[in-house]
Amino acid sequence: MPDIRALSERKRHGEELSADELRWIVDEYAGGGIDDAPMAAWLMAVCCAGMTQAETSALTEAMARSGRMLDLSGIERPTVDKHSTGGVGDKVSLVVCPISAACGACVAKMSGRGLGHTGGTIDKLEAIPGLTTDLSAERFTEQAQGLGLVIAAQSADLAPADGKMYALRDATGTVDSPALIASSIMSKKLAAGCESIVLEVTVGSGAFMRTRDEARALAELMIGIGRRAGRKVGAVITAMDEPLGFAIGNAIEVEEAVAVLKGGGPQDVKEVSLTVASWMLLLAGVVAGRDVAREMVMSSVGSGEALEYLRKMVAAQDGDPDALDRPMLGWAPDATGELMADRSGVVTRLDARQVGYAAVSAGAGRRRKGDPVDPAAGIRLAAKVGDSVQCGGMLAQVMASSRERLAEALRQLERAYEIGDEAPPKTDVALDELFGVGGMQQ
Ligand code: URA
Repeated sequence: MPDIRALSERKRHGEELSADELRWIVDEYAGGGIDDAPMAAWLMAVCCAGMTQAETSALTEAMARSGRMLDLSGIERPTVDKHSTGGVGDKVSLVVCPISAACGACVAKMSGRGLGHTGGTIDKLEAIPGLTTDLSAERFTEQAQGLGLVIAAQSADLAPADGKMYALRDATGTVDSPALIASSIMSKKLAAGCESIVLEVTVGSGAFMRTRDEARALAELMIGIGRRAGRKVGAVITAMDEPLGFAIGNAIEVEEAVAVLKGGGPQDVKEVSLTVASWMLLLAGVVAGRDVAREMVMSSVGSGEALEYLRKMVAAQDGDPDALDRPMLGWAPDATGELMADRSGVVTRLDARQVGYAAVSAGAGRRRKGDPVDPAAGIRLAAKVGDSVQCGGMLAQVMASSRERLAEALRQLERAYEIGDEAPPKTDVALDELFGVGGMQQ
């Protein structure tokens, strides 16, 4: 019988573990046979020493098979899934999944909670009063079949090993390993059963990948895993040096996603959403050309159909669809404060990672495993990179769970901003596109 301490030691010294050994670790940890402390040591060894492509594929497969592997082949509509590698203010999934469903695809997605300084789609969705993301495999499949749109968390049925490992990684600072990120994401994608998968791979200070080369390598790793499992996988590389949009938190991000689905919202969120949603339709085979895909995406928003799909999904998952029309979904924070500019000038830097940590301090994320998150906590930015500000003018509003948390979040947020004299050059938000299928028409 293997010993987790010996496996950690071997990994730390750069040895390749076998598929059997990796399966043993995943099954034992999911079943309670390995405690959190030795598992955290093993995760740290992986963060430090890395994993080969073969190890990453074997780990992914073991994590996917820790629960049910869904078969969606009976669904008439083409099935497509989407996942982000993590960011700050990244509410793109909340926008593109209803859009793709409204355009004729079936979106069956398993998402994660906040991880480190980044937010998670599940925490955001759970800010909608009543909504559940804890769905059995049967309920998940039925909703995919009936409505064509479902978003669930890992559960006892679906990728349970990822659910446990994800929470432990969040609590132990063992997040930013390409092998752990790729296996976490792809295990959920393989278990959920969609034939096409579009990945949003973020790069920059607020992402887990800091350079474009690292982001490309992570995208290629996940595309490789998907191809070997017979799935069509595409990746869009997006900038995450400053937060996406103006809203960071849970209820506040749902509010911003709804604004985009109503035809408004911030330009950067719209641009990434348009690119990702178009690729979802192309990869799923709903349309054959890129221009047609973009037109279809825009008309699903213009007609209100995409928003209608989100409302239906909320209702199907026991949530209150009317909450989508209320500011902050009807939540009121316990403490609110504003960050003011201490000089006039132009915002030259807005560090997304620092903003993410400020949001966690405000109460929007977890500091310890199992901590509750506050749906009302978050940050509303008033100025982003390139914006002119006046001394004493508002840079951002912070909503927090208590006065202490508010003070801490404001201190952190202050460090995120740099104000100078000259605006930096404008950069694109959608940076690059990679595909794991041949013959795509662009
Ligand atoms: N999203 C996930 O589901 N897992 C990760 O490790 C990072 C982002």
